Amino acid sequence: MLKIRKVQLQKKLKIECGDRIALTPTMGWNSWNCFGHEVSADKVKRAADALIKSGLINHGWNYINIDDSWQYNRDGKDPSFHGKMRDENGYILTNSKFPDMKGLADYMHNNGLKMGIYSSPGPWTCGGCAGSYGYEKQDAESYAKWGVDYLKYDWCSYGGVIDGLPDNDPNKVPSLAFQGGGDPDKGVKPFQLMGSLLKQQPRDIVYNLCQYGMGDVWKWGDEVNAQSWRTTNDITDTWSSVKNIALAQDKAAPFAKPGNRNDPDMLVVGVVGWGNPHQSRLKPDEQYLHMSLWSIFSAPLLIGCDLEKLDDFTLNLLTNDEVIAVNQDALGKQGVCLQTIGELRIYVKELEDGSKAVAFANFGREKVTMSYKDFKKLEISGVQTVRDLWRQKDIAEINTDKKGLSLDIPAHGVAYYKFISLK
Ligand code: GLA
Repeated sequence: MLKIRKVQLQKKLKIECGDRIALTPTMGWNSWNCFGHEVSADKVKRAADALIKSGLINHGWNYINIDDSWQYNRDGKDPSFHGKMRDENGYILTNSKFPDMKGLADYMHNNGLKMGIYSSPGPWTCGGCAGSYGYEKQDAESYAKWGVDYLKYDWCSYGGVIDGLPDNDPNKVPSLAFQGGGDPDKGVKPFQLMGSLLKQQPRDIVYNLCQYGMGDVWKWGDEVNAQSWRTTNDITDTWSSVKNIALAQDKAAPFAKPGNRNDPDMLVVGVVGWGNPHQSRLKPDEQYLHMSLWSIFSAPLLIGCDLEKLDDFTLNLLTNDEVIAVNQDALGKQGVCLQTIGELRIYVKELEDGSKAVAFANFGREKVTMSYKDFKKLEISGVQTVRDLWRQKDIAEINTDKKGLSLDIPAHGVAYYKFISLK
């Protein structure tokens, strides 16, 4: 019989001061997966309002990040564009959809939120807007002046700088510097430059590198003052995208620690679409697996959906405090796969209180039904309470040296548990 265990309803709040920032993974929203280039200040404000109204803010979600397309685009189509991307001193101009960046950041701060922005070390962003190349100092100063709290710095056209292509050739196809034996130092340099400029600003600005994992970014991201870095290519709302990204995370795991996160890209639950809104094509079980793995990976959690169109299922996925607590755990480790049985992969993350989060992730097309006994492989032993994190319920108390745990995991689904040792 399962004994009733006292669940702690109080938590100690630990405040750590010092040079290192973003000690726990960033949680918030980003405009890209939802609005793509159709983003505007009005839509961003409405996302902030919806984040508050839906109650997401009470579960730790607090960054509102503007992705590409707040700057002028080289297509020159913006009605207010008069041939200049920057003022006479090199300070960047915002396009007509973002008339007042400082006002927008104030709006976020007055509502208990933070604001993020996006740029590229190259002359152009991936969407063809003005990047920071040659104007890094002015850009870092603008972000600080506006009150920006987070920068996503995206490789995009920087390969062209390395290749010596003309800065403003709109037809260039920039190379990926690290691939094909490029000089890795050349690819580190632009991130180093912006990292040191951000550090010189009179406010903390969380720095996210977006260069898709080139040159093993997890090995040097910390040295360029970044707090997180994308490890893989852009996510889409398909099972193969989520699966391939998930399977590529373990190599970077040893480099995760408080203030340093591997970023497998943003969440693709809810209404997404990069400007063409539709319900995520991930099935419900796939969404549980996606959220569980991003939780156990200690990944930055950035919602990518239209927050004004949140349905109950998506809201529940995003507001499970026990699933979020594993992601935010202060020990800061990244869960890794310790065992593979067919297409079942078992991820384990050590937590600060000595317990372990375990995600039994079924990547296969058949459901998995078994009595699981290999606890030694997971470095789990003795008597344990098994808590189902999604259901927020203790489901078993077993002596893992002697007894098995029955698993019944749907195709592309997950069982996300916490093992608490009963000493
Ligand atoms: C790249 C990034 C995306 C997004 C777009 C914007 O593709 O990986 O996350 O920022 O650029 O153009």
